[in-house]
Amino acid sequence: MRIDKILANSGYGSRKDVKKLLRAKAVTVNGAIIRDAAAHVDPEKDFIFVGDDQVRYQEFIYLVMNKPAGVISATEDRVHETVLDLLSEADFSREPFPVGRLDIDTEGLLILTNDGKFAHEVLAPKKHVDKTYYAQIAGLVTPADIAAFAKGVILKGNATKGEEDYETKPAVLKILTTDTETGTSEIEVTITEGKFHQVKRMFESVGKTVLYLKRIQMGKLVLDETLPLGAYRELTEAELALVLTRD
Ligand code: URA
Repeated sequence: MRIDKILANSGYGSRKDVKKLLRAKAVTVNGAIIRDAAAHVDPEKDFIFVGDDQVRYQEFIYLVMNKPAGVISATEDRVHETVLDLLSEADFSREPFPVGRLDIDTEGLLILTNDGKFAHEVLAPKKHVDKTYYAQIAGLVTPADIAAFAKGVILKGNATKGEEDYETKPAVLKILTTDTETGTSEIEVTITEGKFHQVKRMFESVGKTVLYLKRIQMGKLVLDETLPLGAYRELTEAELALVLTRD
């Protein structure tokens, strides 16, 4: 693998930054100074140093973002900003992608990675990774809604698009508050699937509307509320394991 790619992927800045390090003779491989950005090196076998720092090559990047409303959780969009536009150049250059989708107006926990196998494990329906959302609802959520969600509700398919109705898997609905004056509720709901607009459509099926939606947990990984909206950081290894942890 090219030395500039290895260094850029190991937190030494963009390829341009890395070129500067190489030019400054700060990079050695097995004790020899390397100045050629295209030089091929084996990150598993060779001893790579930047100054006195031994480079520990990380093949994959795992990020957690507190997604703000107004950006799309996709890698590109012709109209809107995407979550990738919120990344630093160095992180963007690792080519991460969002693990699953949140709607443009949904906030909260979003994982980005360039590890396709990990993303597949998180999203594979048979892995049943729980996703928990906090929502504000127009309408008073009732114990009957809790029972309906526990049993599974019908999401109406768009017949003109040839879509069939779909019965959701059991979901756990918790009522946090109901306000009879405003006719609104706050809830938490845990689902194991990721159908298009699933939470919004589940509430539609019981005659209510989601006003605000935020993902607060995936598996056992809880949203880091100290991350401002639009901010992100790397996941620790322990946090990464939590994503795939189930009861
Ligand atoms: N359910 C929705 O309706 N929207 C989301 O963004 C996530 C889950």
